[in-house]
Amino acid sequence: MIAKHQANERLAQVRQYHQQTKHEFNHYARSLGYLDWANQPDPFRRFHDAPLVPLPHLSLDEEPFSPSYEALFQKSTIPSQPVTLNTLSRFFEYALSLTAWKEYNGTRWALRSNPSSGNLHPTEGYLFIGSHRDLLLEPGLYHYAPKEHGLEHRWRVSSETAQLILQQLPAEGFLVGLTSIHWREAWKYGERAFRYCQHDIGHAIGTMRIAAATLGWNMVILSGTSDETIEALLGLDRKEDFQESEREYPDLLAAVWPTTVQPPPNMNVVFEKPSNKILLSGEWKGTANRLSKDEPVQWEIIDEVQKASWKSTQESEIISFSSPSPAQSPPDVTGNTALAGQIIHQRRSAVAFDGHTSLSVDRFYTMLLRTMPNCQIPLHERTMPWDVLPWNPTVHLAIFVHRIDGLSPGIYWLNRNPHERQVTDFQPAMQEQFAWSKPENCPAQLPLYLLEEGDAKNLAMQLSCGQEIARNSAFTLGMIAEFDESLETFGPWFYKRLFWETGLIGQILYLEAEAAGIRSTGIGCFFDDPVHRVLGFHPQTTWQSLYHFTVGGPLDDGRLSTLPPYDHLSR
Ligand SMILES: Cc1cc2nc3c(=O)[nH]c(=O)nc-3n(C[C@H](O)[C@H](O)[C@H](O)COP(=O)(O)O)c2cc1C
Repeated sequence: MIAKHQANERLAQVRQYHQQTKHEFNHYARSLGYLDWANQPDPFRRFHDAPLVPLPHLSLDEEPFSPSYEALFQKSTIPSQPVTLNTLSRFFEYALSLTAWKEYNGTRWALRSNPSSGNLHPTEGYLFIGSHRDLLLEPGLYHYAPKEHGLEHRWRVSSETAQLILQQLPAEGFLVGLTSIHWREAWKYGERAFRYCQHDIGHAIGTMRIAAATLGWNMVILSGTSDETIEALLGLDRKEDFQESEREYPDLLAAVWPTTVQPPPNMNVVFEKPSNKILLSGEWKGTANRLSKDEPVQWEIIDEVQKASWKSTQESEIISFSSPSPAQSPPDVTGNTALAGQIIHQRRSAVAFDGHTSLSVDRFYTMLLRTMPNCQIPLHERTMPWDVLPWNPTVHLAIFVHRIDGLSPGIYWLNRNPHERQVTDFQPAMQEQFAWSKPENCPAQLPLYLLEEGDAKNLAMQLSCGQEIARNSAFTLGMIAEFDESLETFGPWFYKRLFWETGLIGQILYLEAEAAGIRSTGIGCFFDDPVHRVLGFHPQTTWQSLYHFTVGGPLDDGRLSTLPPYDHLSR
């Protein structure tokens, strides 16, 4: 166990980071205040001299075929696919690949399956895989290169070594990893960037979990794994391979395996560090590319929070995440026949909303039901994607309803953990005048409460850094984390995980909005404490708003042209 005073000091640093990176009405969190275009980081990491295995570019009418979007949420309806180059290709396509290029005035930028704050893409993806019968891929560690849609072979190991490393996983499983290059976000957003990197990880957890679901695969984050282990397994600590280049920081490893294989009843979410002998075996290849011309701007507080939220091997990994009880009935089905693959490809952030499109109350309730983890049942029985996060929900929603047919405009509260939290847990610490009344016809399994009726459009906009997307939508929400209690119970390393949970909520809402024929946008820019004052939180840091989101009828920007994602490869 880590010394108590050391843990307290690190907790204090995490809290300090959070306080210092709040946006207030009279000042924003520190950043350069201008964009140093000449030093803009390359959004594509490559490892020079690591052999690139191109993944096949598959159209939607090629195998493996996409299930319907709705099938993703019905347990055991999607047949489990074998692990082949084609299925891995589909997995990375839906998780992290390019989905389009946008062009304006001679400038082009790529969009991806995973959204990213400012489209800066700090997240990198990895695969560690052993020998599979039908897989034309050597065992070892690969880095995913999104611009090429290929896998760079970073670490070649024997089948026996791969088997030793993967023995902790369910049979036929493989590992995926996610890391962040903080500099990519800090280049634009300065000190607040560490938060945005974590949001982006949460979104990528979502895209990966959903990609796995389309192939009939399970996925769970091995959230108790130490950061040292992730760093070692993904080769991030190999100084010789990163000499000239900006650092990549470990975030997570996750296990992926076919649904035909039953997970152990108490799945171990700690991946033990392989021995040095194993780690030193095989052959490492490749050196990381330099992303910016000049040295990154140093934001000390980002280095500090990175160290303070580091999960070391000495830290307790105990996270409570299940108590067996009867299985849950699946959420309402909407009759939507769109393919999951279509919805994933077409997902985009709205840059503006029309200010009049409304959403039916039934659709609104379905969307909210999809954000409910239902922690009453064992982890692997929870509805996708909530079976990926091995902890009970710590984030609730404060919803500003603007245009929902059949529901009064106003501020609402969704309790995402009704099995452990009651209205009486929130009520005393929020505005006294809040009504806490359940809307008529609201499904019994949706713990949604009206706090205050009224027009909250301008309020939502003001709180979201004055952005009109928060006013002109059908609804906007703030994701409110159980901040103090989570950090005190689990430790400072849980700080990142709070953001991951918000990113995953965001990702499911992105797809839900597309499936409903409308669109949405993540909002990382909001005024933190003003949100807390509106809700009346006291004491101040019990709950903290970590991420905002808005959903409505989009207005397209006609000046932009859209190009296919991989045409650049055939030129
Ligand atoms: C964590 C996060 C925060 C974001 N914050 C904002 C924001 O405050 N305002 C905004 O207009 N868009 C915001 N966006 C939308 C991004 O700009 C958008 O995802 C990015 O440009 C990529 O476009 P795409 O989502 O269409 O792929 C945010 C997205 C994410 C993932």
